[in-house]
Amino acid sequence: MRVKLLDLGIQYRRIKKEVLREVRKVLDSQGFVLGSNVLGLETEIAEYTGSRYAVGVASGSDAILLSLMALGVGRGDGVITTPYTFFATAGSIARLGAYPIFVDIHPQTYNINPDSLEILLRRRSRSIKVIIPVHLYGQCAEMGAINSLARKYGLKVIEDAAQSIGAEYRGRRAGSLGDAGCFSFYPTKNLGGIGDGGMITTSSKRLDGLLRILRVHGSHRRYYHRVVGVNSRLDEIQAAVLRVKLKYLDSWTEMRIRNAQRYNRFFREKGLTDYVTLPHVEGYNRSVFNQYVVRVKKRDALRAHLSRMGIGTEIYYPLPLHLQRCFRYLGYKRGDFPVAERAARETLALPIYPELSESKQRYVVSAIAEFYRRFG
Ligand SMILES: Cc1ncc(COP(=O)(O)O)c(C=O)c1O
Repeated sequence: MRVKLLDLGIQYRRIKKEVLREVRKVLDSQGFVLGSNVLGLETEIAEYTGSRYAVGVASGSDAILLSLMALGVGRGDGVITTPYTFFATAGSIARLGAYPIFVDIHPQTYNINPDSLEILLRRRSRSIKVIIPVHLYGQCAEMGAINSLARKYGLKVIEDAAQSIGAEYRGRRAGSLGDAGCFSFYPTKNLGGIGDGGMITTSSKRLDGLLRILRVHGSHRRYYHRVVGVNSRLDEIQAAVLRVKLKYLDSWTEMRIRNAQRYNRFFREKGLTDYVTLPHVEGYNRSVFNQYVVRVKKRDALRAHLSRMGIGTEIYYPLPLHLQRCFRYLGYKRGDFPVAERAARETLALPIYPELSESKQRYVVSAIAEFYRRFG
């Protein structure tokens, strides 16, 4: 048996007709950039996330970059985030000449730890402008505590919700919990396009207006530029495909949640929980399981074993951001964020895509059981 980490083909075959019909309509119209599909998708995503506005951009990375620009972040400003995330979160900060300030994560949720955040802010809050919590793997960060610290220290909050469309924190959706929310439509995301794409949600009219001009080189009227922006537009073909997929997103999310519950059950039934720490979802959160990530003993040997058995896995992320070569100038060293560093050594993402069958999940769990029988 082969089990891919992600099999987008199954999903595509089920919606192929609809997707091709909508793509053909765009081609027939010859209107490719910021047209009716982008406007339609913006309205739908605003509603879906419980935000007042949504602005389509070229990628999730640009969504973060433009949100920071709209909040006035620039050279010399500090922006707090987690070292245990995809590079774009901190890369976008650094690209503006601002500097990332890292805070360690919670050992169970892998999201930024509000206690560590508070300790940092008590020591140094000068020149810090923004906090970017990341809703990692599909679960929202501890937004109540983060927002109250932000209020106390006069900081803005940008949610990096790239992996978490539809996730809920105490009944409210990711993207509606901070000043701005950033989404990615990279194909591997729960709502994935056929290339790059992204969106920013906000309930601030001022930010919405600013973001709309920042994505078109700061021009409020063609060839008249109020500020210096970038070229970061969502195209019509992406938006058309995403609108088709959005109709199915809730059912796909339910299937991901079902798969996660099934894994949990199988791991418990096989008595594997001494070797495999299951994902922890806080009782008041709804995770959309963009990833199903376990913490395991002998991670690299297990991964090699699974690969030999035809099972795809991934490590998100093998090197925390404070240890990346490009961030040496920030002056961090190994040991600064022990929880993130340990997660980077011990976690492993297993296949969780919606259409994953029960028999494939049983196969994955059996292969893990066999590994620990032999080498545990
Ligand atoms: C947490 C996180 N932030 C930001 C991004 C950047 O999104 P994109 O790849 O669309 O630029 C991603 C996804 O790739 C991500 O997972």
